[in-house]
Parts: sequence; C-alpha cells; structure tokens
Amino acid sequence: MLFKYNSDILNGPIKPATVFYLTQGPDSLKDRPELASFRLTIQQLLATGAFKGEYLEKLPLYFPENDNWLIMIGLGDYEKIIPHRLHEAGAAAVNALNSLNLKEGFICSPLLPKFTATQALELVVHGARLGAESRYNYKTNADEPVNTLKTVTFWNPEHLSFIAKPKVIISRAQIAAEAQLQARRLADLPANYLDPVAFVEVASTVAQRNKLQMNVWDESQIEAEGAGGLLAVGQGSDRPPRMVSLEYPGTVRGSKTVALVGKGVTFDSGGLCLKPGEGMGQMKTDMSGAAVVLAVMDAVTSLKVTNRVVGVMALAENMPSHKAYRPGDVISTLSGQTVEIVNTDAEGRLLLADGLTLAQRFQADYIIDVATLTGACLVALGEKCAGLFSDNEFLRNGLQRSGQLVGENFWPMPLLSEYEEDLKSELADFKQAATRSGGAIMAALFLKRFVKPNVGWAHLDIAGTARRSRKSPFGPEGGSGFGVSTILKFLCSI
Ligand code: BES
Ligand code: ZN
Ligand code: ZN
Repeated sequence: MLFKYNSDILNGPIKPATVFYLTQGPDSLKDRPELASFRLTIQQLLATGAFKGEYLEKLPLYFPENDNWLIMIGLGDYEKIIPHRLHEAGAAAVNALNSLNLKEGFICSPLLPKFTATQALELVVHGARLGAESRYNYKTNADEPVNTLKTVTFWNPEHLSFIAKPKVIISRAQIAAEAQLQARRLADLPANYLDPVAFVEVASTVAQRNKLQMNVWDESQIEAEGAGGLLAVGQGSDRPPRMVSLEYPGTVRGSKTVALVGKGVTFDSGGLCLKPGEGMGQMKTDMSGAAVVLAVMDAVTSLKVTNRVVGVMALAENMPSHKAYRPGDVISTLSGQTVEIVNTDAEGRLLLADGLTLAQRFQADYIIDVATLTGACLVALGEKCAGLFSDNEFLRNGLQRSGQLVGENFWPMPLLSEYEEDLKSELADFKQAATRSGGAIMAALFLKRFVKPNVGWAHLDIAGTARRSRKSPFGPEGGSGFGVSTILKFLCSI
C-alpha cells in the first residue's frame, strides 16, 4: 500500500474518489471551505436525513459530470471522538474505497477541535493501513473479493491548519501500523504453523533486516543455563522451547536501556491441567506478547529510537504428555529461586520469570513485559483495556499516556503487597499461584519477585486485548496487535 501526501489547496472531490469526514450535529458544516463546491448537496442530504454523520455511517455519491466519487464518512458526535475512533475512521475510508473496486483514492484528513491536524493525520493513516490488510486464509478456493486499492493520497485543508513534515508523519504512522499488523499476523497463525522454532525463524529475518544482534538458546542451552521455568513449560511438547533476545543499540551512546519481555506460548492447552475444549483454539494467540516484542524490535530501527532496546522472547508450547511438568513439581528458575508448581495452566509467569532474569543481564534501566497472562484480567477489564502493573511512576504514567495517544487503553492495577503471603510455599521459595480471586494481581506479584528493586518495571497483561472477538473495520475477529503502538509511542517519547 502506497501512501502519499498532497499539499495543494484542494476544493472538492478529486478523481477517482475522495473521502470526507463529517461529524454529527448542526455545526458539522461550519469552517469547512473544502466542502464549498458541494455544500448544497450535503446540506440536502443532512436535511432529508439521508446522511446524518453518525459514527462510521458511509455514503458514496457518484458525480457523472466529473466521473468521480465523493464518499462521506460519519464521525458521530465530536465530543466522543477518541483516537481509537479515528483509527476506525481511517480503516472505514479504505474499506469504502476498496468496496468501489478502486485502485486509487484520496482521504481528506479531518480537522477536529480535540486533535491537532498532525495527530488526526497520524491516527487516520495508521487506521487506513490496518484497514487495508485482508486476513490470510487457508481456503483452496480463493473466491473472496480481493482488495483493489493500491495508492491512497492524504491531504488536509491546509488553509485551516498546518502540518509540519506531513510525509514524515505519514511514514511514521505507516511503520507503526505495519508493526502492529506483523504482530497480528503472528497471533493469527495456527499453532501448527507457528511453533517456537518457526517463531525464531521469523525473529531472525527481523534481526537480519534491521541488523540487530540476536541470541537464541535451544532446549539444551535453556537447560544448561538453568532456565527451569521455560524448560518446564516446554517439556511436555515435541516442539522444543526457545529463548530469544534481540538487541538494538540506539542512536545515542550512553542512553537508557529499555528491555521488553514477551510471553510466547505458541499454544496453551493448559498442560496436564487441561483447559476445556471450548475456546481452546484461541490459545494459539497466547504468544501475542512475544509477537508485540518482535514487532516493536522490527520498527525501532526505522523509527530511529534513541534509546537502546532489548527484546526478550520466551517461547514454548504448553502441552500435556507423559513428559509434561506436573502440579506439585518444584522447579528452579534462571534467577536461582525455586517455585512449587500449583497449576500447569499458569505457565506464562514461569517462562516470563526466566525472561525477566535474562533481561536484567542486559543492564536494563527499564523492563516492560507483555503477556496474555490471566483470564482474570480479561474478566476485570474486558477486551478493550489492558492491565498495567507498575510501581514506577515514570513507566506507569508514560505507558498510560502513550496508550491514550494511540487509542489503546491501559488501566493501572495494584501490586498489593498484602496478597504476597498467599504465594508462600512449604516446599519451595514460593508457589506459582494461589487463589483464583485477584488472579491478575497474583500473577503480577509473582513476576515482581524476578525483578531487582533498582530496575523500573512494568507488566502489561494483554489477555483481554490481544484478540478481538468481533468483526471491526480492521477486519474479522482475531489477533489485534494491541500494545505495539503504545510501546513504540513510549519509546519515541523518552
Ligand atoms: N493464557 C492464559 C490466560 C488467558 C486466558 C489469555 C484467556 C487469554 C484469554 C494463561 O496461561 C492461563 O491459563 N492462566 C490461568 C491462570 C490460573 C490457572 C492461575 C487463568 O487465568 O485462568
Ligand atoms: Zn495457561
Ligand atoms: Zn497462557
């Protein structure tokens, strides 16, 4: 998909098709000189109720005299316009152009009171790129419609507002969206296509493309190093585990090191504590955290991030078998701490524990882990909000704020020390899990034990947000790539 920018002052729809956004309400046509040449038409549509400007309402109009399309897309009440809505509006524009079977189209970036023209352009471009992606399928008869759109030109009515370096904004939005899509594609891959070894292959293409330093532990190295958490989770499967690290040096010497740690369970059957069959297929997305980390690592070079960034991905398949780890086992982690296994379905925290220990060997100033960690987080915050656990104010505020800017919600959750005693064990240094209640907090408290107090640490539980269960302008249900944009925004802001 080629995205361009047109800086001419334009008046009216351009051939072959132009998308204009319109908010709902009496002022929707105020200060819209770019709509001047067809103001009467729109006024009539609004008066008759043929078009109301409701959120994602769509109306394509054909003008035979000019042989072009004017596509109106509603943004709804302007008070309710949040970044996520502008992503969806961008995607809706691309979907509309595609449904007219066009190869090329124009999108007039919206001017809104709550956003700078630059912000709006960035969000719409990002959403447009997400909307342009059609999901891969494995059907032998490919009778699905093909997306025709190849080129989109954005423009904003510059007589009203000025965007410095629009091409840079467009290219940055495209890089971020591309990374998000990469995470989404990985999450959507069936587990028989993407096992830990296949994931490593993807990681090495990312490393080569960006000239990142890469290190991989295979199962024997994992054992030799003493990463018993990752080893235990992976031992029930014939598809062996891997620990991967990627290192991006940063553009400024002596800058901070941020380490990202991702949960990469390529399939989570629950192990011997087998999950129920219903919905188990969705557990192919249990590597979404690692996918987010990999996608971010793929984008930091092009975005010229100043800080050093390290990506650690702990990869395993959690399967039941005669070789599988058991409840009651005691394992020794890479940190040296021992853990009593309670439930083989609480596998994520075990491999993350080893990932967190490895991340600290890179002298990380900050560590952010990303994981589809607990069903409890999904229950607590739903599908549109991730849990953010951090005692570090800089990380907590920075990540939440970055999320707000890119349309991803993160809600701060407490690392309540009162619950810590529930992890006490008679047998080992501590237990892997305790009660079901407060499950997301318990998991976070477990992870905390693997991070030294002098390191700034944040834990992102994306169990609810990594997968969309409903169709949206971004496509059918499936992986979302949630987290990539926030982390990239955060890395670019520090
Ligand atoms: N991968 C799951 C968490 C999950 C659930 C992610 C739903 C996405 C959607 C995780 O490994 C898990 O099973 N956690 C258990 C922990 C419990 C056994 C302590 C859970 O949340 O039930
Ligand atoms: Zn599990
Ligand atoms: Zn899991």
